[in-house]
Amino acid sequence: MDAETMASSEASLARSTARSAEIEQSISTDPSRFRMLTGDRPTGNLHIGHWFGSLENRVRLANAGVETFLVIADYQVITDRDGVGPLRERVHSLLADYVAAGLDPEKVTIFTHSSVPALNQLMLPFLSLVTDAELRRNPTVKTELDDTGERPMSGLLLTYPVHQSADILFCKANVVPVGKDQLPHLEQARVVARRFDERYGRSVPERPVFPQPEALLSRSGTILGLDGAKMSKSRNNTIELGMSEDETAKLLKRAVTDSDRHITYDPMNRPEVSNLVNLAALCLDRSPEDVAAELGDAGGGGLKKLVTEAVNERFAGHRARRAEIVADPGHLAAILADGNARAGAVADDTLDEVRRAMNMDY
Ligand code: TRP
Repeated sequence: MDAETMASSEASLARSTARSAEIEQSISTDPSRFRMLTGDRPTGNLHIGHWFGSLENRVRLANAGVETFLVIADYQVITDRDGVGPLRERVHSLLADYVAAGLDPEKVTIFTHSSVPALNQLMLPFLSLVTDAELRRNPTVKTELDDTGERPMSGLLLTYPVHQSADILFCKANVVPVGKDQLPHLEQARVVARRFDERYGRSVPERPVFPQPEALLSRSGTILGLDGAKMSKSRNNTIELGMSEDETAKLLKRAVTDSDRHITYDPMNRPEVSNLVNLAALCLDRSPEDVAAELGDAGGGGLKKLVTEAVNERFAGHRARRAEIVADPGHLAAILADGNARAGAVADDTLDEVRRAMNMDY
């Protein structure tokens, strides 16, 4: 990134952060004004980073009365890899975590891309609204391409932000809880919405076909992996939500600490130790400073013991519910079929409206 791009993306992050606080405020006074859509790629099992970074927040918003759509983004799986992997298991795993976390499938519409044809059809008119140069500038797409090493850019990787605009706009979501890496995609969705209305929505200008969706940035800082690097499935440094107590203990035993027995919360100078302190603090709903003070001279061993207990305690209920849900694939399939049907009906209505706006309603 050059200096100018960096400065403008920092300014836009600051704006989005401020705006997120205002949206939170409006949600607490009138949740019925909001419809939220967000989602995950089914590329692996959800871990505690997802929990504190997004899942917990979604549950809070849905339970506060915000109408909620969740996309299990199966077509995004093939943006940066060849083949889909064990997709059915992964979709079921996501679904089980959503439900176990407290997202009520009767209220929340959970669906997969591949089951909602009308959503995917929106991609065609939307693609006509963006230029090749705009797509190539998307910093998140660039990073994803770099992460795949020598792999050439596929047409889907280049255009998936437009597909993601269809995810957001098919249900006319006006709020999208995401991490900051997704901000360029939200900007893309706003551009698509605006241009669609400029081209086709002029007959009733005060009633645009699509709202301007806004990001709701997740509040918590990122949790690092157990080796102190970014938490990610491919590094094998994550604690998955569905892991057993023993698996959790074993993983945490391997976690990196340092040789100073006195535990402090000092993310700049002691990132690995502070990360574990922070994880315990999140699980215990306490401040990291407080947790560090209590540990005192307990050393790495004492710290790991506390984190293990805190994680296992915090997720015991979730894990028990999750195990029960996973044991019944028929029930999972039924939840998904229901969500897909509901999302399909919404997408059909939006596509009809789009066809009418475009004079394609023959
Ligand atoms: N791209 C998101 C991710 O990788 C997942 C996603 C797909 C999404 N469609 C979305 C997020 C729509 C928000 C809105 O995590």
